[in-house]
Amino acid sequence: MSSSSARAIDGKALAQRVRADVAERVLKLKSKDITPGLTVVLVGEDAASQVYVRNKALACEQAGMNSDVIRLPAETSQADLLELINKLNHDKTVHGILVQLPLPSHLDEHAVIEAIAATKDVDGFHISNAGLLLTGKPLFRPCTPYGVMKMLEDEGVNLRGAEAVVVGASNIVGKPMALMLQAEGATVTVCNSKTKDLAAHTRRADVLVVAVGRPNMITGDMIKPGAIVIDVGINRLDNGKLAGDVDYESAQAVASAITPVPGGVGPMTIAMLLVNTTEAAERCL
Ligand code: GUN
Repeated sequence: MSSSSARAIDGKALAQRVRADVAERVLKLKSKDITPGLTVVLVGEDAASQVYVRNKALACEQAGMNSDVIRLPAETSQADLLELINKLNHDKTVHGILVQLPLPSHLDEHAVIEAIAATKDVDGFHISNAGLLLTGKPLFRPCTPYGVMKMLEDEGVNLRGAEAVVVGASNIVGKPMALMLQAEGATVTVCNSKTKDLAAHTRRADVLVVAVGRPNMITGDMIKPGAIVIDVGINRLDNGKLAGDVDYESAQAVASAITPVPGGVGPMTIAMLLVNTTEAAERCL
């Protein structure tokens, strides 16, 4: 053991608390004859997607919500998928629509996401939702960075004036993460695969969020002593084990708090999906 060992941030426990809170809100909605409903669309047979979709449906049911999974063959046409989304857009019992990504390569992911009604886009991927977040008037926040914000809040991290560094600039995690941190008053640096001297940036971070998809790429020597480290990566190693983007062993000797993989950010993503779907239903009151 190192003399200074970081606190592990328990995403599983926080996700349970968020889900219990959602279940209470669902009960209130049901007393007003509204049952929040999420429809997940899965195209094709991607193994990881199958697991994610099953977990999302299970979480909905445990919170007392309706969940429907529509499984379509990999060769589904763009027109058929758009027609289905249009039908779901007009279905009053469906409050949230989620098309599981990635889609088979013949499908236009962007066009599919834009076809979802922004008011049912519980993933927060629609350009309207991206624009609303950018301008400080969010409707739905993307679930993973939203979950990270919830963890930082629960940890009592003061973001006002904090140096935050986000490694990874994806539309799903890195970019919305940066906007949410900025909205709370952090000074945010976003690094990408072309960033020169990555360590010079990460070493300045009071809050370091890593979402790259490369196992153990951030090591303890790249972390400021006392930093809060949030590891969004979930990588399957050749030996079958899961690893984050952060080398946990060396990082936890330097950081003050760190999210483990698994059991860190992962469970929060699903919890925030339930929050978004519940909010969508509450807006129908
Ligand atoms: N594939 C991996 N993560 C996600 C997610 O958060 N939403 C969707 N729709 N697809 C994903």
